[in-house]
Amino acid sequence: MKAYYSKAYGNSEASLLGELPDPFAGPGQILVEIKAVTINPVDWKIKQGAARLITGFRFPRIFGADFAGIVRETGHGVTSFSQGQQVYGSQSILFDRRGSLAELRAVDEANVRLIPEGMSFNEAASLPIAALTALNGLRKCGVGKGMKVLVNGGTGGVGHFAIQIARARGAVVTATCSEANSELARSFGADEIMGYSREELANCNTRFDAIMDAYGKMSLRLARHLLKRGGTYASTLFIPPPYLSILITRLIYGRRFTSANMRKRPEDWQELENLFAEGKLNPFIENIFPLENAADAFELAVNGKPRGKIIVSVP
Ligand SMILES: NC(=O)c1ccc[n+]([C@@H]2O[C@H](COP(=O)([O-])OP(=O)(O)OC[C@H]3O[C@@H](n4cnc5c(N)ncnc54)[C@H](OP(=O)(O)O)[C@@H]3O)[C@@H](O)[C@H]2O)c1
Repeated sequence: MKAYYSKAYGNSEASLLGELPDPFAGPGQILVEIKAVTINPVDWKIKQGAARLITGFRFPRIFGADFAGIVRETGHGVTSFSQGQQVYGSQSILFDRRGSLAELRAVDEANVRLIPEGMSFNEAASLPIAALTALNGLRKCGVGKGMKVLVNGGTGGVGHFAIQIARARGAVVTATCSEANSELARSFGADEIMGYSREELANCNTRFDAIMDAYGKMSLRLARHLLKRGGTYASTLFIPPPYLSILITRLIYGRRFTSANMRKRPEDWQELENLFAEGKLNPFIENIFPLENAADAFELAVNGKPRGKIIVSVP
């Protein structure tokens, strides 16, 4: 099969488009003919070697966790899927060296969903990591009707889904983004827009019930300042600081800090699919690269200023 694979950790200099042996569906697995893959930050971070102590040093490696495609064959014990069905999903590339940027990928049945009617391969591939993470963060913040929510980094992969999901839950949404992207953030449903510089955030007069930090790096001090008492901050990059400071923040300042992580629970997939069917969740896909140009997709993800989701399509 054709694959965009890496011979070492690094950027495009470490990778090439070439032929690798076809994978096969093991027990409980599905062999998917890949049609579309999205590039998430986790893909390029692992590709560069950020998790090498976990991912090890065996190459070649194919990156790409999220995928959409067609079932080519099913392994022993697979009962929920059959050949020819259109499917999508996400399988971590931490331990799986055969990711999605290829013509074929073997994935565990538990990581696969049927593509709902009306959803394209590109739309399906764009959803898993980014939209499930946005949903998880908003859930943990208890976002609901009438709540004031701040989405930090509102036009990126996670952020643009977070704005739409928060709006669908009836929240009043303020989004941060660079000036050039303010119209785009409004088109996702943000009621208010502001810049994300430290100064602008510090001068903001609104106090929020919840902050979904899609960018992930807001300082806890700033988050505390922007939250109402009883409010919750969820970050995609939350690494707990000393637990004492979290405890103090909760007990003295009455604010909660938590993480937004991808969770592949059936009810979460279902919620996203329902929102899509109702027209309330629309993946924004500005850049589509053929597999031959996967290097350009990574370049845009790492050094460009991608908006919404980047897709690599496989013919
Ligand atoms: N924990 C998890 O399970 C999980 C899952 C998904 C993602 N993540 C992490 O979450 C982060 C975001 O992921 P993504 O897919 O949304 O990335 P992305 O598509 O690259 O988007 C990044 C966004 O951040 C904005 N931004 C840049 N500088 C900023 C700043 N100083 N303050 C606020 N926003 C800023 C960008 O806006 P402009 O272009 O307008 O500057 C852009 O909209 C990544 O670090 C990723 O690894 C974690």
